[in-house]
Amino acid sequence: MIIEEINKIPNSFIMKDDLDFKYYVSGTWKKSSSGKTIGIRNPYNNEIVGTVQACTTEEVNQVINVAKENLECWEEKTQRERADILRKAAALMREWANPIGYIMMKEIGKPLKSAISEITRTAELFEATAEAGLQQEGEAIYGDTFKGFGKNKMSMTYRVPLGVILCIGPFNYPFNLTGSKIAPALMAGNTVVVKPPSQGAISPLFFGLILEKAGVPPGVFNIITGKGSEIGDYLVQHPMVNMVSFTGSSETGKHIAKIVEMKPLLLELGGKDAAIILNDANLEITAEAIVSGAFSYSGQRCTAVKRVLPMPEIADKLIELVKKKTMNLSIGDPEKNATIGPLISSKQCDYVQGLIDDALEKGCTLLCGNKREGNIMWPTLLDNVTTEMRIAWEEPFGPVLPFIRVHSAEEAIKISNKSEYGLQGMIFTQNIDLAFNIAQELEVGTVQINGKSERGPDHFPFLGTKSSGLGTQGIKYSIEAMTRPRVIVMNLSEKGKLVKECKYD
Ligand code: G3P
Repeated sequence: MIIEEINKIPNSFIMKDDLDFKYYVSGTWKKSSSGKTIGIRNPYNNEIVGTVQACTTEEVNQVINVAKENLECWEEKTQRERADILRKAAALMREWANPIGYIMMKEIGKPLKSAISEITRTAELFEATAEAGLQQEGEAIYGDTFKGFGKNKMSMTYRVPLGVILCIGPFNYPFNLTGSKIAPALMAGNTVVVKPPSQGAISPLFFGLILEKAGVPPGVFNIITGKGSEIGDYLVQHPMVNMVSFTGSSETGKHIAKIVEMKPLLLELGGKDAAIILNDANLEITAEAIVSGAFSYSGQRCTAVKRVLPMPEIADKLIELVKKKTMNLSIGDPEKNATIGPLISSKQCDYVQGLIDDALEKGCTLLCGNKREGNIMWPTLLDNVTTEMRIAWEEPFGPVLPFIRVHSAEEAIKISNKSEYGLQGMIFTQNIDLAFNIAQELEVGTVQINGKSERGPDHFPFLGTKSSGLGTQGIKYSIEAMTRPRVIVMNLSEKGKLVKECKYD
């Protein structure tokens, strides 16, 4: 089936031998001189989906040099030409969404419908980035705001690309979160080197086919594959990489921040998003948001709902509603669109189980779940969780949700802010004035009022504080982060002076 699906994409044969996928540089698909490959296995049934190249640092160096060498040809394209290319790429994503989504489902265990919609979501992102890119403007400023300066001094500013952008995507959105870096980088006139995640490395490779067919010249867009442990540091520290845009774990993000020195960074990292539920919340809406936010893609989202802090009057009723909805979730094969599918690895399952065991040992109440078959973990609800338990603070990246009962907004804010993470927070109440009051106290990038934590829609500003990230993503914010101002100051003659002297006999 995998081969049949891929063969639906014209010319896909050039990117692979059987199911051994090549890396993409200068418009050419290549095998690594290392002779080594990385096996990608389906986390649901452990079948081999394909292999990707375990590239060497020499090949990394070559790819980055190619990207540097092709900066000029791409920067010389007009905004309109770049926007048109992004739009053509979007059309191809829509055309090939099913086969690429199928491959993604196989390699990361995402429900098939969600995998396919991730491709079409990226098409929408490319189209919106094209539009946003065409709106980019500069500004001119007179110097006469300050004493000693007059209108004869004017600064003119416009934005220029940073250069070579290194885009590193995560396993959980291997196409959309890689595309959310590629599109603004290209629209802003940069060249791109993509390093896909080890797990989920195949579906981003199709950007090579898509962008080439859309009109991106060879060498402007390149993809290198390999083990992060072998080429990761070399990639991010390479002197010709002008900016790193990374989505992944906080641990890796902090490591990158430590070793890249002066390089601009966009980091989208982990989260421990807390939902504060006040006594007047609409419990049906709240329960629906919590279950969807906590368990879609089996909780493997940085923006998943990861803590619920209910007030006393509604706690029991809310938990009963959440439990009922949770126990109705479909569990099983991602190809059959089960909501709860496999976690990305057995090791991740072990980690999640450790958090559950710790909470149980320390006296929490198991409401449902705590069951595992292979890499599938049943959605687990834990009540009466205390701040002594690891699950109150650690990010599971799996289907386990703790209820930490609170008795005041102050207590909820304190527990929410005590987390090392600061991605998003949620407040469920019908008192919008109070919601704003609480939102202003939360140390997070975004506060959702009466809704689940989520990154989309993709033009919204998206950022994390503390261990959750660095910089702001979201289409126009990403374009800004991948450019810098160029300032030209005109030192002109005194206003009117030349006019008086301009006389013809
Ligand atoms: O975990 C990645 C994060 O970007 C999730 O995106 O749209 O599902 O909130 P979203």
